[in-house]
Amino acid sequence: MVFIVNYKIQISKSIEELSEHFAQLLIEKVNNSKDCFYLALSGGSTPKRIFEYLTAHHYKSVDWQKVNFYWGDERCVPPTDHESNYKMAYNSLLNKLQIPASNIFRIKGENDPQFEADNYSAEIINHLKIENNFPRFDLIMLGLGEDGHTASIFPNQISLLTSDKIYSTAIHPDSGQTRITITGKVINNARNIVFIVTGKSKSKIVDRVFNNKVDAKKYPASFIKPLNGKLFWLLDKEAASQLRGN
Ligand code: 6PG
Repeated sequence: MVFIVNYKIQISKSIEELSEHFAQLLIEKVNNSKDCFYLALSGGSTPKRIFEYLTAHHYKSVDWQKVNFYWGDERCVPPTDHESNYKMAYNSLLNKLQIPASNIFRIKGENDPQFEADNYSAEIINHLKIENNFPRFDLIMLGLGEDGHTASIFPNQISLLTSDKIYSTAIHPDSGQTRITITGKVINNARNIVFIVTGKSKSKIVDRVFNNKVDAKKYPASFIKPLNGKLFWLLDKEAASQLRGN
């Protein structure tokens, strides 16, 4: 399958500058959208810093009332657990916005994993527009793990990239933690996919994935290429340090 890839890379001097780039992207996409904006949040330490920045600097710039919040993945823990992606997003962003609770669609990590993967898949199908036979998000935030995982699609479960499921269960290869994750076809069906990657520890994997190095096919993030959307890589200079010219 040949991908038509539109992508844009922005390399920032700091997490604050990267967060501002993300904020401007979100403002442009949300405020120009006609109706509901379907946004899938990511977990991880970098998104947490971005959420805090949005709260501090763009509380009023984004038309938050339009945004329906979903998650790209969740750990199978209760929403009160420190591991919960929902808890992180709620504490760093959502509870600061005056938005109705009905705009927030968390993955219920406390449920049986398979039940919840199926339940959340049904919610997504019911709420989002179906295009190219899959639900279409307006924007999906993604992080990048040092092993090349994104969302909770890990190298040892690369079949989740081609699954026809909307969300699936997954197992973290190191911790053994059960997760629920969006699948590759839904990610690639999005209008906008935004990788957010910071820190020196990510420089090697960024080079391998971004420059499509020989072993790139081992890394799930290498397969993230929107079918007819836009791909953005927001990196800080440390994460980009092994890319040519940096
Ligand atoms: C999660 C994320 C995961 C994360 C990457 C990068 O639930 O943790 O889905 O894919 O985005 O592991 O995390 P950092 O931004 O913390 O490096």
